Amino acid sequence: MADKTAAGRRNGKATSEPQTAKPATKSSSSLSITDILRIVGGLFLLNCLLSYFITNDSVLWGWRPWFIRPAVLTRYFQGPVHLTDAQLVQYDGSDPSKPIYLALNGTIYDVSAGARVYGPGGSYNVFAGKDAARGFITGCFAEDSTPDMRGAEYTYVASDIPLPAEYSLDPSTAETEKVTGAVKSYRSNELRRARKQVQDTIEGWAKMFRGEGGKDYFEVGTVIRPEGWLEKEPKKALCAQAIKGRPKPRSAPAQGQAQDAGAQYRGGR
Ligand SMILES: *[C@@H]1O[C@H](CO)[C@@H](O)[C@H](O)[C@H]1NC(C)=O
Repeated sequence: MADKTAAGRRNGKATSEPQTAKPATKSSSSLSITDILRIVGGLFLLNCLLSYFITNDSVLWGWRPWFIRPAVLTRYFQGPVHLTDAQLVQYDGSDPSKPIYLALNGTIYDVSAGARVYGPGGSYNVFAGKDAARGFITGCFAEDSTPDMRGAEYTYVASDIPLPAEYSLDPSTAETEKVTGAVKSYRSNELRRARKQVQDTIEGWAKMFRGEGGKDYFEVGTVIRPEGWLEKEPKKALCAQAIKGRPKPRSAPAQGQAQDAGAQYRGGR
């Protein structure tokens, strides 16, 4: 009997051991998940503290994703803004109850965070409430506050290449003759490079207005324009300042070739 009990006890113990061991392993595995979470959480907190301590400002090492920016979150839930160019003017900062918007090649950005510069009296107020993409290329904000960028690439085209009549301030002096050979390839290379530079310049500004440069600006929507609006606009001449600022002829051999070939084409000087 005693043996039985002992054996039973032993058995019981033996059988109960894995039973108690099972929940123990279970709880220890769930504990380890909690532990991992604690460790990760602790490291994250430490990282935030360290970041705040070092940057003196940010808990995420200067990383400010859109979902932690309240104004961007609000805009996200309100949905995108769609305005005509005429409606956009109301957002130039003159009405303090409205955000300050500017557009760049059809995309609208909220620059309210920079009210000091984009608001009334600010040095960049000229950009506010409009799409002045052309001005961002040519630097002529007074006359080029338009999204029409046709011909603006000539800002970046070497000064030895004549402006086409349609973009020339004085079309009567513009060269209309066709060029061939080395001149033609020099010009087309220049144009290709200049168009790329236009794209890069616009994208550079867009990045900043999207807040990627660390400023609290963000994209809010698009400008509504009628189909074919651009074709209806008269082409704009390149502004005087942009003409003056055009780069020097690119490379001496190309320039020499270009001049020689051009002279030859025109039948000497
Ligand atoms: C401007 O927008 C048009 C239409 O969305 C696009 O085709 C063009 O590449 C953009 N231009 C630049 C310079 O980004």
